[in-house]
Amino acid sequence: MVSESATATAAQVLVASNRGPVSYTVGEDGELTARRGGGGLVSGLSAIGDDAGALWVCAALGEGDREAVRRGVGEPGVRMLDIDAGSREGVHAAAYNGIANSVLWFVHHMLYQTPLEPVFGPEFRAQWAAYETYNRAFAEALAAEAAPGAAVLVQDYHLTLVPGMLRELREDLRIGHFSHTPWAPADYFRMLPDDVAEQVLRGMLGADRLGFLTNRWADAFTECCVRVLGGTSGTRIGVHGLGADADFLRERSRREDVEERMATLRGQVGEGRKTIVRVDRTELSKNIVRGLHAYRELLETRPEWRERVVHVAFAYPSRQDLAVYRDYTAEVSRVAEQINTEFGTPGWTPVLLHVDDDFARSLAAYRLADVALVNPIRDGMNLVAKEVPVVSDEGCALVLSREAGAYEELGEDALAVNPYDTSATAEALHAGLSMPAGERAERTKRLAAAATALPPARWFLDQLHALTDDAA
Ligand code: G6P
Repeated sequence: MVSESATATAAQVLVASNRGPVSYTVGEDGELTARRGGGGLVSGLSAIGDDAGALWVCAALGEGDREAVRRGVGEPGVRMLDIDAGSREGVHAAAYNGIANSVLWFVHHMLYQTPLEPVFGPEFRAQWAAYETYNRAFAEALAAEAAPGAAVLVQDYHLTLVPGMLRELREDLRIGHFSHTPWAPADYFRMLPDDVAEQVLRGMLGADRLGFLTNRWADAFTECCVRVLGGTSGTRIGVHGLGADADFLRERSRREDVEERMATLRGQVGEGRKTIVRVDRTELSKNIVRGLHAYRELLETRPEWRERVVHVAFAYPSRQDLAVYRDYTAEVSRVAEQINTEFGTPGWTPVLLHVDDDFARSLAAYRLADVALVNPIRDGMNLVAKEVPVVSDEGCALVLSREAGAYEELGEDALAVNPYDTSATAEALHAGLSMPAGERAERTKRLAAAATALPPARWFLDQLHALTDDAA
């Protein structure tokens, strides 16, 4: 049996995701502390109001979460599943680290390369079985909680099998699935074992409607269905390009703690210097190391920028259970240090790297940035590219990978780069640093307008309405 926290019955609108809106830590005194997260889904779900009978089903992720489930502690409107309860020890880790983060994430971001080639042997099969168990636990919980005819919005690559499984349990439900990542082209997707590729696609096609962040990812999914299954069997597909939350960002970025961090950052950067800012989770797909190489090339080929610019790089921890992520994190620090050793002078540190997550400091850097560097190899959307223009104080040039989903909406006013081409990226950084203030401000204004076209609350409601409206 999967154990779970108790909640109200019969929800009308349900969201299912691996990571939920709240997480718990156990203090030394044994007290549980809850921490609420942010993001598009949180503001989206709050937009439908408390009376709508909404329920968020998510997994217990750490010991704190599991302890909360054991003690029956929960937030209203949230049901946490302890997937590993009873005889299922290790199922969540195998599904999350093994399949979701090491296989599906790598396929959709096209990250496999020697020596990271996938080997789909017995270990993979055991993890795949765990992924099925984990998806089934979600489907069963949703089936138990949903009111007749309720709308269920399933999120992301962790839960691709849920729509199909839930459909078998509850024919009456309206089921949607949304992918927050890119979708791999068919030739790449077919790297997955045939039966697994089929299962993923059929699982998702169990939904009434599928959502993607851009046309490009939606088209890739359709192509996979045609190539692997022969078609999409009538499931509706929509594109909803999540935008930045302008109201929240503008208010939050003007608070005292952000002002304090701006003063600190200004001191660290030094009087009269320009800044190239990047803010990422340390994911291989974010391409942070090539970004550093591009910056190094800038200092090499355009020596006039030495002592006149600082690369403010915030690389926050992510998925540290995986060796490949830990190695990548170490590589980011190593390359940053190398640049500082090679070019630094007593009064100038070329790279200012921070690895501890601090949202107020990120906002401070957004406000100060002269150039924002967003150069992922592939990215479902990339909200940093959308957030910077919204909060920027005096306008910021945006160097943007054409492989980020955000490029579909922001491409015209950004400086586009091929993320593998560090020389072209160095030139784009130079162009951004050299851009006249007036042009920068104009572009930033247009970027901010495009970036906020679909704020999180509307993004969520559009999907919900499209799911419950048969014509959409
Ligand atoms: C990124 C992706 C999301 C994904 C999330 C999971 O933000 O854009 O699609 O759901 O990572 O992150 P986690 O820390 O839960 O592994």
